[in-house]
Amino acid sequence: MWPNQTRSWSRSPLFQILSNPEFLAEGTAIQDLFNPDRVLIGGRETPEGQKAVQTLKAVYAHWVPEDQILTTNLWSAELSKLAANAFLAQRISSVNAMSALCEATGANVSEVSYAVGKDSRIGPKFLNASVGFGGSCFQKDILNLVYICECNGLPEVANYWKQVIKINDYQKSRFVNRVVSSMFNTVANKKIAVLGFAFKKDTGDTRETPAIDVCKGLLGDKAKISIYDPQVTEDQIQRDLAMNKFDWDHPVHLQPMSPTTTKQVSVTWDAYEATKDAHGICIMTEWDEFKTLDYKKIYDSMQKPAFVFDGRNVVDSEKLREIGFIVYSIGKPLDGWLKDMPAVA
Ligand SMILES: NC(=O)c1ccc[n+]([C@@H]2O[C@H](COP(=O)([O-])OP(=O)(O)OC[C@H]3O[C@@H](n4cnc5c(N)ncnc54)[C@H](O)[C@@H]3O)[C@@H](O)[C@H]2O)c1
Repeated sequence: MWPNQTRSWSRSPLFQILSNPEFLAEGTAIQDLFNPDRVLIGGRETPEGQKAVQTLKAVYAHWVPEDQILTTNLWSAELSKLAANAFLAQRISSVNAMSALCEATGANVSEVSYAVGKDSRIGPKFLNASVGFGGSCFQKDILNLVYICECNGLPEVANYWKQVIKINDYQKSRFVNRVVSSMFNTVANKKIAVLGFAFKKDTGDTRETPAIDVCKGLLGDKAKISIYDPQVTEDQIQRDLAMNKFDWDHPVHLQPMSPTTTKQVSVTWDAYEATKDAHGICIMTEWDEFKTLDYKKIYDSMQKPAFVFDGRNVVDSEKLREIGFIVYSIGKPLDGWLKDMPAVA
């Protein structure tokens, strides 16, 4: 508006702000849009607000059954979105916490999560143990929830949700410790092949991927890393590894990789090249192709003893052991070699 113009408020257009959170997951966005579990519309509890809510509801009603379109006030809609992602992440952290206990006791986390998921009150979804959750939403939404709790004077509730992220970070560092302790307590100057860098299969998205922290952990112990992901480019990987990470327990920014460290990383478009002459393999993403690689060929081209650390439980560990690999699978009983190694915390 120019300074000499006067605004006539009475003629300003009226508008309402609605909260209509998006629940699309990457890779299934169109499916999620056409067949949503629910659509959520939040608005002000005034006649104008409710009119706006009903107007948007009528749009969705073209393809979503009315009983799946939920209408709430603004805060309920906003918090429901954050809570949904926090609950999903919490399930993953819960099963990952169990995976550590399974390894310590000799239980098998797949059997435990199957048995737990059979309880219809709990259900079977989102109970796969892994090296940790990633993606653009889970951590961000939990941090958002934590912030809102703290702003509302609820530090205990904030700490409860923080713990979901702390277990996720613990799972990643536990994985790195397992790799290092299994390989004679050092990976310095050893070649480690990292298979998969994206936060989940069928996407090239690397936001908050556990592969970043695992690679940084291995680089911290001076490993040489060779990374293969079917969709992630070298540029992206180098950018991700150079990025700072905020650590709230030690609120300083961790140092980005130095140029020397960058030289310790190579990226290839071929799994066999990545694993050639490697001492160990870390599987970071559950890409289908990792199930069907020629592991005998890979074993023959690797240094011995040859290790596989399966962060997604995708390979047939028994078959790999028959070939000669020493195999670590998250939350599964440890094979002879790993049992004799010092406990990992
Ligand atoms: N990705 C987006 O751009 C986006 C945008 C808006 C909202 N969202 C919301 O965020 C949520 C997460 O979406 P996303 O795209 O990050 O994908 P996602 O839910 O498929 O994956 C998130 C994380 O969960 C893990 N995971 C998936 N299935 C699992 C299982 N069965 N057991 C254990 N772990 C499992 C994945 O490995 C990944 O680390 C969606 O449900 C959606 O509500 C996502």
